[in-house]
Amino acid sequence: MARPQITTKKYASSAIDKVDNKLHDHGSGDSRNSHEKSWQLAMRVMTKRIEKIDVDTCEWEEVLPFMVGDVGEIYRQRQRWKMMLPRVEAHYAVKCNPEPTVIRLLARMNSSFDCASIPEVEAVLEHGVDPSKIILAHPRASVRQKVAAINHGVRQMTVDTKQQLHDAKKYFPTAKLLIRLAPDDSKSKCRLSAKFGCSFDKAKELLHVAKHEGLDVVGIAFHIGSDASDTQAPFNATMLARDLINYAEDSGLYSFSVLDVGGGFTDHLFEPMAASLKAALEFIPQSIRVIAEPGRFMVSSAFRLACQVNDIDYEGNNEGNIPIHINAGVYSDLANVISDHQVRIPKLLCKQDPSSESFRYRVWGPTCDNFDEVVKSCSLPKVSQHDWLYFEEMGAYTIPCATEFNGIRRADIMWVSSERGASSLLGWDADI
Ligand SMILES: Cc1ncc(COP(=O)(O)O)c(C=O)c1O
Repeated sequence: MARPQITTKKYASSAIDKVDNKLHDHGSGDSRNSHEKSWQLAMRVMTKRIEKIDVDTCEWEEVLPFMVGDVGEIYRQRQRWKMMLPRVEAHYAVKCNPEPTVIRLLARMNSSFDCASIPEVEAVLEHGVDPSKIILAHPRASVRQKVAAINHGVRQMTVDTKQQLHDAKKYFPTAKLLIRLAPDDSKSKCRLSAKFGCSFDKAKELLHVAKHEGLDVVGIAFHIGSDASDTQAPFNATMLARDLINYAEDSGLYSFSVLDVGGGFTDHLFEPMAASLKAALEFIPQSIRVIAEPGRFMVSSAFRLACQVNDIDYEGNNEGNIPIHINAGVYSDLANVISDHQVRIPKLLCKQDPSSESFRYRVWGPTCDNFDEVVKSCSLPKVSQHDWLYFEEMGAYTIPCATEFNGIRRADIMWVSSERGASSLLGWDADI
């Protein structure tokens, strides 16, 4: 029997665009409709790939997990941002998902970028982005990385300690600095204020030191924490920044030109969070350019992960759950369960007649480590060995966080597009 071809990215995008051309959205449908189309397209692509696999004869590489990445979803999120927050220039946080296709698409949509390191800066510059559209938003990056960023033409940087101001004076005096505040992030899943940013009083002190050192402080930055759920947080943090802007102005220290409102936005809470930010921006003078660093919002919904069940033990009992072992786990493609504090529940993929009865399963990853637990308990229709499961919202903090511990291969990505605008920006139409 002929073995299915392991698809390359290029082959996947063009072939699937061809097959599913009619699933292209012309941009007029509402977002739920578009999201449904994206889901249908992903299901079709996953099903096609796994249908070709003969589990009795195939090579082991053919039954590895894989992702389906839909550039149409990223395109629509970018448009949604622009519609809701026209005043706020999105700098995509590359750390969240540094796939070159993601960067290329966003660069072609005229986005700006938030980088945390020189490799990220270089990955963005490779796509022809002007360095003035990049912010190095990692105050604790090494001095040598900051110097290298300046050498690449990147000037905007965040700072949050006196030491960094002294470093700036000595090593990178031409930087355009933003003082990073630490706002209340108590309702966010990833609490960045524990590690970054400074208090309001400390920020005032830093402004005096910076002035004394003759540094070019251009504004204020903050991050309300990643995966934020407090819809008041953008308002409160922006008002805190506004007080610092006023302080700098009133004391004759600086007249700021930039406010960086960070990331933290999710797909589900985007509208109320954006409304909260917009309400606060009424208090920020129009002369101030407002920028943000969204990561998760842009990419999370665009990626789905398909995994196969290696083993299932209906006689086993893991605290009332039947143990299932799948071929991706928290050390590999489901790294977001640990590094990003996410809960991901799998769904059963394309079973002809799924049982109406459901069972409770404990899902384990493929390594020999018992820490590799994907979910403690979840309900699914009856699952059998070699069935495929899929996980949704897998675009954020998965790909860059996955390791190959135990020699477990990371998923390859099959690219698709549910949006003609995205395909043509990437030049994929030419392949059809
Ligand atoms: C400085 C900075 N900016 C932006 C982001 C992106 O945040 P999010 O994915 O919540 O939008 C992060 C995430 O850790 C970050 O540390």
